[in-house]
Amino acid sequence: MTTTRRTFPPDFTWGSATAAYQIEGAAQEGGRGPSIWDTFSHTAGKVDGGDTGDVACDHYHRWREDVDHLSELGLGAYRLSISWPRVQPGGTGPLNPEGVGFYRDLLAELHRAGISPVVTLYHWDLPQELEDAGGWANRDTAVRFAEYAGLMARALGDAVAVWTTLNEPWCSAYLGYASGVHAPGRTDPAAALAAVHHLNLAHGLAVTAIRAQLPGAKVSITLNLHVVRPQDPASAADRDAVRQVDAVGNRAFLEPLLEGRYPEDLVADTAAISDWAFVREGDLALIQQPLDVLGVNYYATTLVRRFAGSGERVLADSHASTTHSPWVGCADVEFLPQTGPTTAMGWNIDPDGLVELLTSLAAAYPDVPMMVTENGAAFDDVVSGDGRVHDRERVEYLHDHVHAVARARELGADVRGYFAWSLMDNFEWSYGFSKRFGLVRVDYDTLERCWKDSAFWYRALVQTGQIPDVDDIEYAFEA
Ligand code: FCB
Repeated sequence: MTTTRRTFPPDFTWGSATAAYQIEGAAQEGGRGPSIWDTFSHTAGKVDGGDTGDVACDHYHRWREDVDHLSELGLGAYRLSISWPRVQPGGTGPLNPEGVGFYRDLLAELHRAGISPVVTLYHWDLPQELEDAGGWANRDTAVRFAEYAGLMARALGDAVAVWTTLNEPWCSAYLGYASGVHAPGRTDPAAALAAVHHLNLAHGLAVTAIRAQLPGAKVSITLNLHVVRPQDPASAADRDAVRQVDAVGNRAFLEPLLEGRYPEDLVADTAAISDWAFVREGDLALIQQPLDVLGVNYYATTLVRRFAGSGERVLADSHASTTHSPWVGCADVEFLPQTGPTTAMGWNIDPDGLVELLTSLAAAYPDVPMMVTENGAAFDDVVSGDGRVHDRERVEYLHDHVHAVARARELGADVRGYFAWSLMDNFEWSYGFSKRFGLVRVDYDTLERCWKDSAFWYRALVQTGQIPDVDDIEYAFEA
């Protein structure tokens, strides 16, 4: 028997990820209050097909079965999120015991299965009452969030392996408050910048609140960082467009969180939109808290150039192609279509971008360990005659991106884990159920779960720490 060298060490964390609103359903059960995503998805025209998360994958009732899938996949970790309005319905006051009980039971079952829970406190489902009071544009929401974080730390204690404060604050701020394609659907760039700051502040205050309850807690935040490239690397104007997009997309979060400051160029670029008076003295010290791990979500890259000022401005970025751009202050930047293969989201497939992202973060912040907390792809899955989903494109996508993680590690990036997005097909925000990212297929009529080929491939990877060739796997055996 030959032994192959492991590409990944035995202590590398393999997981998959989900988010509460995307899978739980049971929107009106167990004392849960409404969130901004309930309101948004129930507003005509906001979500493809009029889909809502009312039922979603019905995970609230089927969570034992879902833990079985995680366990059969052999995963060491599961990244889930807590629905804030399920545990604290209006975003203030005491916790709802029934909501907390749901997560306690889930975490206990994960522990029995030997799976470490990586728990996100905010994956976009703000209690509607807090939005009615101004949402993330209102400073008080950060204070409310920290209170909720502290209460959850006390309630769940060491059942949580890693606490993640926020998922992708870029989306919460800019898609929620500038382009309006996400809840709460506001289109006010100044409010979006205030939201950026209040999300950063919420993170810092929450980390402090969690550590006050659990001094040994491991804490993190997950960011969707943008790999931004110039159309013409030789053009100073295009490189300046990159700088600008990097400031609003990446450094607006990285610098306050990890360096205790806001980028001066960001403040200058957005001066006509906001005076940044929402940043109060002492805020940056509150925001910059030591992180145990930085969560990095990666799907695709962004290609830009400086707008020449005449003709129609190109806005081909999937996020920018709305009347209201999420790229606050970037009115003279063009977002260009990219060549090469894309996923069903229209996102370009570029594993090298992940290597670039992880190695550049490692160079900038060498002491901060990282985990890839989301990576994956939507494709138009087809159920074959044999009842299975032979999702070869997804297997290839995962294969190439896991290779990218291995390459980044070889180049010295301290990447400790990888979470496939997603465990199962789910409610893909404004795309509703039309986009499927799961390793496990969900039949939305029967709510039955069925492993796609990508689930078998991922299990083989997780079992061996070796990246299996796409064709090397026996895909047909029963899960
Ligand atoms: C990320 C979100 C996640 C999922 C994937 C496809 O931006 O965090 O919930 O929608 O994209």
